[in-house]
Amino acid sequence: MSCKRKETAVVVSQEQLANGIYSMWLQTEEATEIAVPGQFISIYTNDGSKLLPRPISLCEIDKEKKQLRVVYRVTGERTGTEQFSEMTAGDTIDILGPLGNGFPLEEGRGKKAFLMGGGIGVPPILELAKQLDCEQKQIVIGYRDAETFLKEEFEANGEVYISTEDGSVGTTGNVMDAILENALEADIIYACGPTPMLRAIKKYAEEKDIVCYISMEERMACGIGACLACVCQSKEKDHHSNVNNKRVCKDGPVFLSTEVEL
Ligand SMILES: Cc1cc2nc3c(=O)[nH]c(=O)nc-3n(C[C@H](O)[C@H](O)[C@H](O)COP(=O)(O)OP(=O)(O)OC[C@H]3O[C@@H](n4cnc5c(N)ncnc54)[C@H](O)[C@@H]3O)c2cc1C
Ligand code: FES
Repeated sequence: MSCKRKETAVVVSQEQLANGIYSMWLQTEEATEIAVPGQFISIYTNDGSKLLPRPISLCEIDKEKKQLRVVYRVTGERTGTEQFSEMTAGDTIDILGPLGNGFPLEEGRGKKAFLMGGGIGVPPILELAKQLDCEQKQIVIGYRDAETFLKEEFEANGEVYISTEDGSVGTTGNVMDAILENALEADIIYACGPTPMLRAIKKYAEEKDIVCYISMEERMACGIGACLACVCQSKEKDHHSNVNNKRVCKDGPVFLSTEVEL
């Protein structure tokens, strides 16, 4: 269930995990209660010059403490994400959510699963790895280089296979190369990452006839289904607009790979 409620969260901690990659825990009032893996929150900057909130996936959900963790990359100077990285414990920040649909956990029960993340699509795979109750949890994650942020936390939650573009850790190449090199097999796939990675995974899943859920990243504006800034091409016609479109923020971000065009 998603929630269009805006609330003010308090920064509990902020930590740099790697070059340009930050981890922030937020104390929430209500957002944590209904949050599920694969959902995201829209985070507002405290600078009035940036009106649109930034969509960031939930990396961890701590229902007991009512806290959410986000792990994000600073995209450049004077950006919203740079502002987030400058926040420290006790600062307040407005958030909207949790938004989107999340990964279907029931479908993976008792199955051999691939949990695949690439680049800044790695963080949402952590809460999925913690919650997915499957027979074999094969976590396949891809990084640019040896800055393998969250690796130890993944190792505590399943079998981990790593690929790096520069070959410094694990398989040289991408997540698909790691699957081939280790002769891994699965009967369900969950994936989040850049479009070329998702396209390769979708193709592999269709060739092997494996059920595959992909979490898509599109540029967003409203984040709640109202502005159509985030539409992607779908196989089926959308019943609101009667065109072959789906709104990534509201109908997704998680889709069956066969539902969408990449
Ligand atoms: C569902 C979803 C989940 C995401 N999860 C994460 C995450 O867990 N960690 C992480 O580091 N990044 C994540 N992103 C990407 C993140 O939203 C962008 O990097 C961020 O919005 C950039 O904002 P900025 O102010 O730093 O950059 P700017 O370039 O200043 O942003 C300008 C505008 O473009 C939008 N925008 C820019 N890049 C993106 C993008 N890639 N996706 C969507 N909107 C964008 C911004 O929201 C803003 O409205 C996610 C994106 C989506 C759609
Ligand atoms: S961002 Fe406005 S409809 Fe998705």
